[in-house]
Amino acid sequence: MTLPVLQPEGQEPAPPRRYYIETWGCQMNELDSQRMAGQLMEQGLLPTRSPDEADVILLNSCSVREKAEQKVHSRLGAFRGLKEAKPELRIGLCGCVAQQVGKRALSRSSHLDFVLGPARVGELTEVLERRRSGERVVATGFPEEREYAFDSIARDGEHGSYKGMVTIIEGCNKKCTFCIVPSTRGPERCRPLAEVLAEVRHLLDFGFVEIELLGQTVNHWREPEGGEHRGADFADLLDAVASLPGLPRLRFVTSYPRDFTPAMVAQFRRHENICPYLHLPVQSGSNRILKLMGRGYERGPYLELMEQIKAARPGINLSTDIIVGFPGETEDDFAQTLELLEAVRYGSVFAFIYSPRPGTAAPRLKESVAPPVDPQVASDRLQRLFALQTQIQTELNQALVGSRQEVLVTGWSKQGGSLMGRTGCHRIVHFPADAEAEPGTLVQVRVERANPHSLMGVRLQDGLPTPAVRPARLPVIAS
Ligand code: SAH
Ligand code: F3S
Repeated sequence: MTLPVLQPEGQEPAPPRRYYIETWGCQMNELDSQRMAGQLMEQGLLPTRSPDEADVILLNSCSVREKAEQKVHSRLGAFRGLKEAKPELRIGLCGCVAQQVGKRALSRSSHLDFVLGPARVGELTEVLERRRSGERVVATGFPEEREYAFDSIARDGEHGSYKGMVTIIEGCNKKCTFCIVPSTRGPERCRPLAEVLAEVRHLLDFGFVEIELLGQTVNHWREPEGGEHRGADFADLLDAVASLPGLPRLRFVTSYPRDFTPAMVAQFRRHENICPYLHLPVQSGSNRILKLMGRGYERGPYLELMEQIKAARPGINLSTDIIVGFPGETEDDFAQTLELLEAVRYGSVFAFIYSPRPGTAAPRLKESVAPPVDPQVASDRLQRLFALQTQIQTELNQALVGSRQEVLVTGWSKQGGSLMGRTGCHRIVHFPADAEAEPGTLVQVRVERANPHSLMGVRLQDGLPTPAVRPARLPVIAS
């Protein structure tokens, strides 16, 4: 580890060097940003919320939909003036767009210093060093050997230091016809169970309350060739992690429906510390569209799986991803998606209008089978889907009024004088602040009111509501 150099006596100390990171997209990007922040902190840099005072700016991009990709290009453009005013500023394009556009990004943006793909995140320190000797570095592709120093991750993102994310599988081997991820994150690579357990133990030693296992197809994890737990699959991994002493909450994201086995369902029954929440993207309720998407499962078995999961863990909160307006989607196909939402009754749904991505198979589907859907029709379907879903999730949330929930306090809510947190089933809860409910602690809350996207409650102590603290006595929050 490189420590900041001490200033000789009599000289003004140099102001600390600072880094600024913007992150888009999924949890994997969030963790990659924490990994990059960790490397910068080892170099003595401190974080800043203002790009104007940064010495290093990183844009950690997402390319899953065209809009997200455009966004990062426009953010990059916005930093041109800063670089002109301060040529020693380093600007890096990271994440999935970096992998996708590679060195073309350097010719397109003369103020860009380097391009760093998702599989090369561990090399940030080296890349900055190479830049110092004049090279505009392009570090993309999927090397066999990868740096993964889990003990130098700056785990202070949006979730503070109580939720620790642990990648168990990188990349994706599926070929969903709409999805760019396999080409930006590369082929699947599983980490050995022993390494995963060592990282989780490390986080528990540091007092982390919640562990979230990450992977594009997290439940496709298998012990890699040559690993000491030969033959172990995701059910075994869940069992082993959930059995570690002192782990209150375990989550995982994102599961692939076809790879969800009965042994995995059984883990929900077996371990209470596996949170009653499951994100299982279905994408469409129509078998014809699922086939065009190359998803490899049908509506019937998916619905059966959901019933098994609900039976294994009553009250479980389910969520999903839906794409509307996929080529060839008819009004009838869309009606089947709405029906599926009514049948499953998800607690939340992430829905998107289909966006054609470079290098994927969907834009090349025959027009006779899969004609493009009119953008206005797609947007109208999205609104109808949200209207139905809002109604469903409001009803589900209302059913929780009067119930007692264990809430992990995550921080201050935007409503003055309130704290917020998450239930085990991942619902957001706001409650009046009081001195004992510090971020990172687990508290008991009685739900008083329900909104479509959150719950409002009061904290209970010995079964009784705690008195709220007047805002004047609350600590000032730095903006
Ligand atoms: N396995 C990953 C998938 C990453 S993409 C995960 O679930 O986290 C996340 C979601 O974005 C997908 O489930 C899908 O619903 C949506 N998505 C992916 N490609 C898309 C595209 N071309 N257009 C619209 N939505 C897309
Ligand atoms: Fe994308 Fe399908 Fe993999 S949605 S990440 S190709 S499982």
